[in-house]
Amino acid sequence: MRKTQRNESVDYASPHQPSRIMPELSQSNPEMSPQSIPIERALVTGASSGIGREIARILAAQGCNLVLCARRRAELEALKTELADKHGVQSEVVVSDLASVGGVKALIAAAGEVDIVVNNAGFGFAGSTIERDTDGQLSMIDLNVRALTHLSRHYGKKMAGKGRGRILNVASIAAFTPGPGMAVYCATKAYVLSFSRALHDELRPKGVSVTALCPGFVETGFQEVAGLDFGAMERSTAVPAEKVAEIAVKAMRKGRREVIPGLMNKPLPLITRLAPVRLQLAVAKALLG
Ligand SMILES: NC(=O)c1ccc[n+]([C@@H]2O[C@H](COP(=O)([O-])OP(=O)(O)OC[C@H]3O[C@@H](n4cnc5c(N)ncnc54)[C@H](OP(=O)(O)O)[C@@H]3O)[C@@H](O)[C@H]2O)c1
Repeated sequence: MRKTQRNESVDYASPHQPSRIMPELSQSNPEMSPQSIPIERALVTGASSGIGREIARILAAQGCNLVLCARRRAELEALKTELADKHGVQSEVVVSDLASVGGVKALIAAAGEVDIVVNNAGFGFAGSTIERDTDGQLSMIDLNVRALTHLSRHYGKKMAGKGRGRILNVASIAAFTPGPGMAVYCATKAYVLSFSRALHDELRPKGVSVTALCPGFVETGFQEVAGLDFGAMERSTAVPAEKVAEIAVKAMRKGRREVIPGLMNKPLPLITRLAPVRLQLAVAKALLG
């Protein structure tokens, strides 16, 4: 893999205006009063690109109204328009930097009640831990770990109170092994997987599922931010973001605890359980170094 870099601007905002009408359903069944149809509302973080945008598209196709969160307003507004035109659903755009506690609180304040939470926003950096800047790596922990924990805990509690709800947390196959060359990123994803598994167990008796999504290589904006380029091996096992999203939403709807898209990736948990750590480190170093 090769290395590069990118910067983004930051902004907060957006009022919450809940919607209760789904035009497609009311048109297909004129006897049903639109106001009587319960509409699901889903919050998707990191909806401005990649896997999050594809998950938002699938949920919109299923009739969900959406809260779309990320930092890039233009991308979120374009998605909002697309989803309204294609599926007749209503979306709230919340521009927020979730690497800050204030950004997460602003999202919670703006989002209101939701039935589904997709904690997808995340990023990684390639390179030596001691050579990369401290702030960037701590910000990765703030987003991948702290924001996801904050939102899972907040909405998990609300959903448990209602006796229903779905949380989809985006981990990675990086969760299964330490990753020299992406040490902090792999550790954040190990946290996401461990936390989500345990939270699923805590909330399942209360009618709430927590699904950990563990994708392998997916071509998205992730590589540019991380400073990585796919090599031949990564390309051969890569799964398109649309497919990853489809598998993720299906697993979430079934209330599964975790899901690994891609046949080549599925044996990984077993392999890493059996392989000695020094072998795991050597393989990860060859892939990420
Ligand atoms: N691509 C892969 O190979 C791969 C593999 C395994 C797991 N994953 C995971 O999949 C998830 C989605 O990544 P992706 O591959 O779809 O990459 P992506 O296209 O770069 O999407 C990342 C999303 O997170 C948002 N985001 C980043 N920093 C943010 C911040 N501080 N506050 C709010 N939103 C922020 C980005 O939006 P803005 O820039 O507009 O804020 C973007 O919408 C991540 O958790 C990633 O770790 C990716």
